[in-house]
Amino acid sequence: MSKNFFDLTGQVALVTGASRGLGQYFARALARAGADLILTSRKQEDLASFVAEIEALGRKATPLALDVRDQGSIERMAVAAEEAVGQVHILVNNAGCNARKPALDVSWDDWNFVLDTNLRGSFFVAQNLARRMVKHGYGRIINIGSVTSVFGYAGLAPYGASRGGVRQLTMSLADDWGRHGITVNCLAPGWFRTEQNKVLYEDKEWVAYLEDRIPVKRAGQPHDLDGAVVFLASEASRYITGQTLLVDGGISTGAMRATVAKPPKT
Ligand SMILES: NC(=O)c1ccc[n+]([C@@H]2O[C@H](COP(=O)([O-])OP(=O)(O)OC[C@H]3O[C@@H](n4cnc5c(N)ncnc54)[C@H](OP(=O)(O)O)[C@@H]3O)[C@@H](O)[C@H]2O)c1
Repeated sequence: MSKNFFDLTGQVALVTGASRGLGQYFARALARAGADLILTSRKQEDLASFVAEIEALGRKATPLALDVRDQGSIERMAVAAEEAVGQVHILVNNAGCNARKPALDVSWDDWNFVLDTNLRGSFFVAQNLARRMVKHGYGRIINIGSVTSVFGYAGLAPYGASRGGVRQLTMSLADDWGRHGITVNCLAPGWFRTEQNKVLYEDKEWVAYLEDRIPVKRAGQPHDLDGAVVFLASEASRYITGQTLLVDGGISTGAMRATVAKPPKT
């Protein structure tokens, strides 16, 4: 193991969904730890300014187009990544979407949209890159889950099903690919304000309600995820696989549910 467990110098990390939101924070954290980056988005041109930002940190950054709902696009991306850098060491399977609505209103198309992107997409991106990682006998796959990987939330039925599936997929792939030197873990964020959920955060009353129920008394700042992603990408986590790491300020203690039955004041 290198002297600095968290040093990613000489490694290449591929981050899907790097055009905005958490994907960009994951990529920045990995770049600061020394990794070069492959960045993906459905439209390659949406990555131009972020590529420049990563290069300004002294790292290489290669933009590639990827639509995780399109089998051909995934296969082309994997070939292009291999041609560009040879070996991809780290995958952050971050691209994702949501359809927030009461379960009674969820349509067939809503279901397919969310499950095809978050679950089927994560699997086939991982499979296409793992086929290449196997040749090198090394890989770190980080699937992005959510607190909904382990808890149910009203209004998030397809999303929760997809994120629960990602957690289960993580365990299956860890068992399957461990023999090839590939670890597979799930990083599960709690509540973080991004494009995907900004509407929620416009409601001040809801934000106060939320923050009061998070044990550390605040919603997540994207930098709160930096340590976890670098840890799971690095030598420091080399004997950890198939796990889900919740980074949620303690929501998974069950504190959100305390609203139903407040504990007595003592
Ligand atoms: N924000 C949170 O509180 C939170 C909590 C837990 C988990 N998560 C998960 O973390 C991930 C990032 O969340 P975020 O809040 O940063 O979301 P976001 O701001 O909506 O960004 C989503 C990213 O996914 C990409 N994407 C969407 N559909 C895609 C497709 N079909 N093919 C390829 N890329 C696609 C988008 O890129 P293009 O549109 O450029 O293609 C974008 O870069 C998501 O998977 C989300 O479910 C978020």
